[in-house]
Amino acid sequence: MAADAVGCYGLPEMTRHLSCSPDETVAAGRDLARRLDPGATVALEGELGAGKTHFVRGLVAGWGGAEDATSPTFSLVHEYPTPRGPVFHLDLYRAASADEVWSAAHDELEAPHGLVVVEWADRFPGLLPSACLKVRLTHAGDGRREIVIEP
Ligand SMILES: Nc1ncnc2c1ncn2[C@@H]1O[C@H](COP(=O)(O)OP(=O)(O)OP(=O)(O)O)[C@@H](O)[C@H]1O
Ligand SMILES: [Mg+2]
Repeated sequence: MAADAVGCYGLPEMTRHLSCSPDETVAAGRDLARRLDPGATVALEGELGAGKTHFVRGLVAGWGGAEDATSPTFSLVHEYPTPRGPVFHLDLYRAASADEVWSAAHDELEAPHGLVVVEWADRFPGLLPSACLKVRLTHAGDGRREIVIEP
C-alpha cells in the first residue's frame, strides 16, 4: 500500500498509534476529531476495557465539547453538544438487535450529521454507512493500547 494513499474523509489509508495511558487514548481521539468534518461516522472496535469510551471522550473534546463522555448504559445513544455540532455516541454492547438500534438512531445512521461514533460497531456492521472510519483498539500489555485508524 502506498504511504500516501488516501481513504475516506481525506485521511491516510491506515494509521497506527501506541497509547501508554488513558490520557494518551483521549488525546488520540482529540487529534482525530480535529481532522473530521460534520457528517463523519466513526466505528469503534475493541474488547471490553480496550479504551473505546476514553477515545470517544477525546472525540467530544476535540470538537470543543465540555461534557465528559461516559458509556450510555441506559440509552443506546447519547448526544453531546459541541461548537462544531452534536456528537452522537452509540454503544451497541447491550443492544438486542439491529432493529432496536435502527429505531433508536436511524436518523443519525442513515444521514449522519454532526459526528456519529459507535462503540461495539462490529456487533451489527450492516447498520453503518459504507463511508465510515474504523478505529480498532487492542490491549498491548502494561496499560498500553494499540490504536489503528482505518478509513
Ligand atoms: N492506554 C490506555 N488507554 C485507555 N484506557 C486505558 C489505558 N490503560 C488503561 N486503561 C484503562 O482501561 C479502561 C478503559 O475503559 P473504557 O471504558 O474507555 O473502555 P471501553 O473499551 O469503552 O470498555 P467497554 O467495552 O466496557 O465499553 C479504563 O479503566 C482505563 O483507565
Ligand atoms: Mg465503553
